[in-house]
Amino acid sequence: MRILTGFAAATLLLAGHVTAWGRLGHETVALLSQQYLLPETTRTLQTLLSTTSPTFLGDIALWADEFRREPEGAFSTGLHFVNGRDGPPPESCELDYPGDCPPEGCIVGAIANYTQRMMRRDLDAVERARAVKFVVHFLGDIAQPLHTEAYGAGGNNITITFNGYATNLHAAWDTSIPHTLLSLPSNATITSTHSLTLANHLAPLLTVGQYKPTIKRWLRHHTKHAIRTTRGMEKAAAAWAQDGNWEVCAGVITVHPERLQGRELGGGEYEREARRVVERGLVKGAVRLAGWLNLVVVGRTGF
Ligand SMILES: *[C@@H]1O[C@H](CO)[C@@H](O)[C@H](O)[C@H]1NC(C)=O
Ligand SMILES: *[C@@H]1O[C@H](CO)[C@@H](O)[C@H](O)[C@H]1NC(C)=O
Ligand SMILES: *[C@@H]1O[C@H](CO)[C@@H](O)[C@H](O)[C@H]1NC(C)=O
Ligand SMILES: [Zn+2]
Repeated sequence: MRILTGFAAATLLLAGHVTAWGRLGHETVALLSQQYLLPETTRTLQTLLSTTSPTFLGDIALWADEFRREPEGAFSTGLHFVNGRDGPPPESCELDYPGDCPPEGCIVGAIANYTQRMMRRDLDAVERARAVKFVVHFLGDIAQPLHTEAYGAGGNNITITFNGYATNLHAAWDTSIPHTLLSLPSNATITSTHSLTLANHLAPLLTVGQYKPTIKRWLRHHTKHAIRTTRGMEKAAAAWAQDGNWEVCAGVITVHPERLQGRELGGGEYEREARRVVERGLVKGAVRLAGWLNLVVVGRTGF
C-alpha cells in the first residue's frame, strides 16, 4: 500500500512535470493575442483550423499538452521548453542556442519548424492545422520563464508551498501565480470564461496602458528578414527564450535555489514580484504571438 501510494505520488509529480502554463496561462495568451490579429490573418487561421469559433485561438491553445500525452505525440514532449544550462541562477542566466538544444529538438527549433509548416501548401490540412496549434502553444510556453531554464528540470525539483498549497516552483509559475491574477486559489478549476476575463482585463493595459511603450521592443525580432529563413526564425525564437531566461534571474530564482526549497512563497514580496513577471509574460507572449502570425500570413506585425 505504501509503495502504491508512493508510486501514485510519483506519477502525479511526473504528470505535472512538463505541464507548461496551465489552462489559464495558455488560453489567456491565445485569447488576448486573437484581439490583435489582422482580418486576413484571422480568415487564414480559421480556414486552416476549419472553424469559425469566435474564440478559435483559445480553443486550440491546450492541444499540444494533450497531444504529447498520446503515443503519437510523445516525440513532442521535449519541444515545450529549452534547457538553458546557465550559472545556475541567480548567478547567470545566459541561454546558448543551439548549444542548449539537444539533437531531438527544443522549443526554439520547434517554433521555426512549425511556423514554416503552417504555411506550406504542399502539406495536407491535418499537418498544417497541427502546425498552427503548435505555434500558438509554443509562443505561450516560451513566455513562461522556467521553460527556458535547466536547473532542477526548470524548477520542478524545488518543493515549495504557495499559500498553503503543496507544489513545486515550476508548477507554481505555471498555475498558482497566474491564478492569483484573478484572485483564485491554486487548486481552482479553470474554465474558458476565466481566461476570457483575464484576457479582457489585460487588453487595455496593452492598448493604452503600461505595456504600450514596450511593444516595439518586444517585437524587435519580428522582421521580414527573420521569417525568410529557418535560421532567421530560430534567431528570433532564441531571443525570446533568452528574454525569458533573464526573467529567471530577475524575478523567479533570485536567491540560491537551495534556499527556496521548502519555503512558503505566497502572500509576501515573492508573490508580488512574481505576479508582475507573470502578467508581463502573458502580455508579451500574446503580443509576440499576434505579431508573428500577422507577419507570417500578411507580412506585417499589425502593431
Ligand atoms: C518538423 O516537424 C515535423 C512534424 O512534426 C517533424 O516530423 C520534423 O522532424 C520536424 N523537423 C525538424 C527539423 O524539427
Ligand atoms: C535539483 O536539481 C539541481 C540540478 O539541476 C541539483 O543541483 C539539486 O541538487 C536538485 N535538488 C534536489 C532537491 O533534488
Ligand atoms: C481547494 O483547497 C481548499 C483548501 O486548501 C479546499 O477547501 C477546497 O475544497 C479545494 N477545492 C478544490 C476544487 O479542490
Ligand atoms: Zn507546453
